[in-house]
Amino acid sequence: MKISVIGCGYLGAVHAACMAKLGHEVVGVDVDDRKIASLTRGEAPFFEPGLPEILDEAMASGRLTFTTDLSEVAGAAVHFVCVGTPQKQGEFAADLTYVDAAFSSLLAHLAPGDVVVGKSTVPVGTAERLAADLEPTGATLVWNPEFLREGFAVKDTLHPDRVVYGIPESDAGQRAAALLDEVYAAPLAEGTPRIVTDYATAQLVKVAANSFLATKISFINAMAELCEATGADVTALADAIGHDARIGRRFLNAGLGFGGGCLPKDIRAFMARAGELGVDQALSFLREVDAINLRRRVRMVDLAREECGGSIVGRRVAVLGAAFKPNSDDIRDSPALNVAEQMHLQGAVVTVTDPEAVTNAKEKAPHLHYADTLEAAVEGAELVLLLTEWEQYVSLDPDYLAGLVADKRILDGRNVLDPARWRDAGWTYRALGRH
Ligand code: UDX
Repeated sequence: MKISVIGCGYLGAVHAACMAKLGHEVVGVDVDDRKIASLTRGEAPFFEPGLPEILDEAMASGRLTFTTDLSEVAGAAVHFVCVGTPQKQGEFAADLTYVDAAFSSLLAHLAPGDVVVGKSTVPVGTAERLAADLEPTGATLVWNPEFLREGFAVKDTLHPDRVVYGIPESDAGQRAAALLDEVYAAPLAEGTPRIVTDYATAQLVKVAANSFLATKISFINAMAELCEATGADVTALADAIGHDARIGRRFLNAGLGFGGGCLPKDIRAFMARAGELGVDQALSFLREVDAINLRRRVRMVDLAREECGGSIVGRRVAVLGAAFKPNSDDIRDSPALNVAEQMHLQGAVVTVTDPEAVTNAKEKAPHLHYADTLEAAVEGAELVLLLTEWEQYVSLDPDYLAGLVADKRILDGRNVLDPARWRDAGWTYRALGRH
């Protein structure tokens, strides 16, 4: 099937390559010519494991092309809208500029019977408005939220946990769902659960899922605060409560908390939308979820100050990790980079390293020092902060590191190191929610 993907950022680029992998003829469109030039060369404009391989394969097959010319979407039966919905400057609400621009420029290129698929994360009510705009073209809107995780984006797109379609109650809606079934024939054949519902529910599924995940993380981080006050161990606590299948151990890793381009802005946009709908009380708990999350970053800096005898002014600090999570070069709302910046503002001499995110971090926080290797970052450090749990940091040898640093002091912001092993090697080990 010929399909188009509008918006070739994180979501769109992965979606376009994966749809070509499934055998479709795909044209990816974006207004950013640098991004399109890079994708046309078969190069992913960001780090994502597995993406370069499927991009190469799809480009070689001739089934995947990229362009800045939107008119090339004509003739496609299905158009996926994958543009971003960032947080508005200075407010909680989502900025719908890109979604609105994508839909309004698409209108001229649609034919009756076309299906437009909204994948962006939007405030509930947006799909209904966009469907009304599409009506004169004879195209039908399906709201099909995306649940991919960075670092696992290819796997999550090709083998999703579930697919959700929000459709209108009409024959056109049923036809649109059937066409989307053809697009997703391969994952559906694997038995992927498929939920067909109305627009409002489909839009809510995405923000409800992200709110739940954020709440789970903040819950365990709130427990970490209790552990710090009582001498308890949040990792053992998470293991113990996680054995209850109703709770589950996943997303109960206490530490620096959540960041990235989705969870923080999605819970805020959800609160803003609830306010507009007159049900702000229903989501007031998300304020606490956000506050607990941000408090962990401050606590990390406090811990560093405590370890340095009350002041970090002039102290040489090595920060391991800048990305908001491992296997990503994404530094959007990164807890690691935020802590590094706070430490810098409080007078520490901070050197940051990360296997993939240094280039992006330098652009965002040019005032910090950067090192390309772990060794260069920790050379002469008086304090080491592990803030993003890349495998190479998790598996660090305390004896090897001891030979490089000035002082054997490490703060584990992700609760991934074995305290006994580090202490036995002569290190002062501190962590969040753990004694
Ligand atoms: C998230 C959702 O998981 C995904 O379904 C949605 O489509 C987009 O948003 P992503 O932003 O890629 O995906 O990251 P995720 O793996 O959810 O992690 C988010 C943040 O939470 C990271 O900063 C991570 O370090 C943190 N986290 C995660 C914790 O602090 N503790 C945990 O137990 C799990």
